Amino acid sequence: DWQIEWATEGTSVANLRHAAAELQKGTHPVAFPTETVYGLGADATRSSAVRGIYAAKQRPADNPLIVHFSSLDQLRALLRSPDYSSSTDPIPAIYHELIQRFWPGPLTMIMPLPSPSPLAPEVTAQLSTFGARMPRSLIALLLIHLADRPIAAPSANASTKPSPTAAEHVAYDLDGRITTILDGGPCDVGVESTVVDGISGDTPVILRPGGVSIDELRACPGWERVEVAYKDKAEMDSVSKAGAEADGKPARVAPRAPGMKYRHYSPRARVVLFEAGAGVPGPDAVQEGQRKVGLIRTKRWPRGCGFDDQELLEVNLGSDTRSIARGLFSALRELDRKDVDVILVEGIDEREGDVAAAVMNRLRKAAEVEVKGS
Ligand code: TXA
Ligand code: MG
Repeated sequence: DWQIEWATEGTSVANLRHAAAELQKGTHPVAFPTETVYGLGADATRSSAVRGIYAAKQRPADNPLIVHFSSLDQLRALLRSPDYSSSTDPIPAIYHELIQRFWPGPLTMIMPLPSPSPLAPEVTAQLSTFGARMPRSLIALLLIHLADRPIAAPSANASTKPSPTAAEHVAYDLDGRITTILDGGPCDVGVESTVVDGISGDTPVILRPGGVSIDELRACPGWERVEVAYKDKAEMDSVSKAGAEADGKPARVAPRAPGMKYRHYSPRARVVLFEAGAGVPGPDAVQEGQRKVGLIRTKRWPRGCGFDDQELLEVNLGSDTRSIARGLFSALRELDRKDVDVILVEGIDEREGDVAAAVMNRLRKAAEVEVKGS
């Protein structure tokens, strides 16, 4: 019963209608392309439909999902509680400028959950907020529009694996668990949306770096002082060491974005991340017995790096930050499929802006070992 629906071919309208009908039926989640990564979608207002997402991905149930909209009116209708009568905009004012600039696009905004909640409880995992996003991909927008309901969708990978940036990645992870994939070709951005919260605290915060950069956010009125609330693994280690209690136990760092505490973006092979400035790895970077070495190069590493005794598989992501983001998850997956023992990755400087912070955030989560720069 497995099939890939080729939405990019001549029958695209029929396939879109089919996928939208599947979303309305709610028996199986539907995988679809967005400009960031592929999502696994279901009707966000129906528990049974949303449970299908968690089952297919084998995702822990306390990690909430992002809700996708195709229009502002669709979001407003959901934000208005049933007895709402005023004509004011239910979308919090702090988000108006962000919506103007970045929607549709790779930005997720944390919204207040109306009471009673119109969303399936499985979407929000006990929280009194939910994440809202309007994707820029035309296939995604059309699908949501045709389904005519808000669509809850996490990335369409098996939990803990790198996010899928092509339909083949979804098929590889979820074969036999889902029935419909809309194929829109490779994703344009390649890393997930930036998640921001402008309503829960005194200052707006970034919960996850992504397709919209911190500099772009800071250029918006009300967002000049936006703070970073995510912790990369490197920082997490140093935070817990610095905050060690008198009895020697590390102080706990409570994750704010629930997704932060899980293993993420991990291929089977051990990933060793070389931070920008850490130098070029040689044969001493791999352990004994690691015969097959994957190398992901970006800005400076030369070809080969002198691994004469190993079988070397190289992926060159190029030096353009956007191309690096676009190719990153695919490179991790490709080397994993070729059964390498270890993947050495050339990191980039996250301070260079654009999607560099998102790239390094994902790499640090995928890496078991980090080699620091000087
Ligand atoms: O680009 C994307 O955002 C993709 C595409 C499919 O839209 N989706 C995606 O979903 O990355 P997912 O489930 O893999 O990541 C959702 C992130 C998680 O880190 C989750 O913890 C956070 O958003 N999140 C969702 N609802 C939240 C809430 N109410 N408060 C704080 N964080 C929330
Ligand atoms: Mg994900």
